[in-house]
Amino acid sequence: MAVHEAQSYKDPGTFDEQSRRKFLANATLAAGGVISLVLAVPLVTSLIPESLLNPSKSGGGTWADLPKADFDKIAADGDPVKISFDFKYADGYFPPEDDDQFVWGIKLTPEQEQGFRARRPDLYALESKVDYPIITQSYVIFSSICPHLGCRFEWNLPGAPKNRFACPCHGSQFSREGEKLAGPTPRGLDPLPFRDRDGKAQVTWIQYKSGQADRIIVSYS
Ligand code: FES
Repeated sequence: MAVHEAQSYKDPGTFDEQSRRKFLANATLAAGGVISLVLAVPLVTSLIPESLLNPSKSGGGTWADLPKADFDKIAADGDPVKISFDFKYADGYFPPEDDDQFVWGIKLTPEQEQGFRARRPDLYALESKVDYPIITQSYVIFSSICPHLGCRFEWNLPGAPKNRFACPCHGSQFSREGEKLAGPTPRGLDPLPFRDRDGKAQVTWIQYKSGQADRIIVSYS
């Protein structure tokens, strides 16, 4: 009896039985493929930044309001103004996260604006990559991250020369318009996209590669 049962496993069966088994195997594979596809599409989509999925939504992706009380302190030819804000950043699977950030804002006089392109030609190479003007309504917004190795610089840092940005980590210094003046930084300050939406000043965040003369975008929220 045992020998008979063992031999039955070796029996390939009739032609109909073989066809049925083949059909069931193929159907199982096809169903698995469809299920994988259904699961993979939203998974892959969730990993693509909003800025790539929907570039027309904002030009960048995620924009944050700058507090009006701080923004209104920016005056043409005045000192740069440090503006803190809450940046909600969504990435992949993770829900939007609060991220306390700050930027530096300056406003140019018409005369300063005319010469700005000549003084900061490195910034204008960016316009084609980020699709926004460097100067918006005479304002320029700088990232608060030092282009050398990523520390946060300050305006009129205690102990550093007056009327310039200075970084406490390795002593890089920058003019009010973000030009490199001293220190190991390989480039001037980095700009951030800025816009006016129904009277609200908004920025979006760009992370640039540090330590390089070229301005390379690492992430653009
Ligand atoms: S990180 Fe700013 S000078 Fe080095």
